[in-house]
Amino acid sequence: MKRLEGKTALVLGAGCVDPEGWGNGNATAVAFARQGANVVCADVNEAAARRAAEQVRAEGGDAVHVVADVANKAQIDEAVALTMGRFGRIDILHNNAGINQRGGVVETEEADWDRVMDVNIKGAYLSCKAVIPIMQAQGGGSIIHVSSIASITWTGHPFISYHASKAALNQLTRMVAVQHGADNIRCNSILPGLIDSPRIHVTVLSFYDGDVEKMRKSRSAAVPMKRMGDVWDVANAAVFLASDESKYITGTVIPIDGGVTCTMAH
Ligand SMILES: NC(=O)c1ccc[n+]([C@@H]2O[C@H](COP(=O)([O-])OP(=O)(O)OC[C@H]3O[C@@H](n4cnc5c(N)ncnc54)[C@H](O)[C@@H]3O)[C@@H](O)[C@H]2O)c1
Repeated sequence: MKRLEGKTALVLGAGCVDPEGWGNGNATAVAFARQGANVVCADVNEAAARRAAEQVRAEGGDAVHVVADVANKAQIDEAVALTMGRFGRIDILHNNAGINQRGGVVETEEADWDRVMDVNIKGAYLSCKAVIPIMQAQGGGSIIHVSSIASITWTGHPFISYHASKAALNQLTRMVAVQHGADNIRCNSILPGLIDSPRIHVTVLSFYDGDVEKMRKSRSAAVPMKRMGDVWDVANAAVFLASDESKYITGTVIPIDGGVTCTMAH
């Protein structure tokens, strides 16, 4: 028996910034499918959503893709309606969509602050708002938000809107867990740490003079386990939280970080 047999997952932000790479979203979509889930792959980027669904089908899973900006209520509602029309239920809401913008409060433009907040926290509100009534009617479900260790600690570089929005996401997680525990709806956040994903080549490589090896060495050295994580470490945690193995776990924020949040070294 596969761990997610008979379940349907809606994965928001199911793509990857690299059109040929593996990010946390498409790795998780595939990991869900490997455990038997049907997957709807939603992304603001049509090509990224399409590719994630193709990757799921290539593994023998059932998947469709849909274009949806998590900050847009109509598009989220459409993605939820498409999932219900195709599979008739939503057992897993996996909110992976997230963006960041370099800078502290002084350097951050108001429009950039607003967009990061819209995607990282309003998107979680909108998707929970659309999916929770469905989960209530079904008798339960698992909501997983992809937060970040940046929600609880300094990570070496200023990304103020990212830090603040992911911290808000943690508290949204806890409050949804409290309010909907009696509905058998669980809500947890995953906090990826220093992950070796294509995204870091866009966001932090410049801090290491564009030198990939220097970046990998420095980030690995900061971690007690002396290596960065990979997207499958994040995906595997999501599979656990999506499955009934975690049926008594709710309201948690779980670092997937090789121990880095236990140190001051980073
Ligand atoms: N990579 C890391 O080191 C790391 C560390 C901590 C947390 N995270 C979190 O993991 C998640 C995924 O990160 P990743 O590294 O795989 O990034 P990524 O950029 O490769 O993938 C993110 C996907 O989300 C999509 N997306 C962006 N804005 C969206 C929107 N408004 N609506 C719908 N989809 C949208 C993108 O098109 C992309 O396909 C993010 O929430 C990020 O904050 C990543």
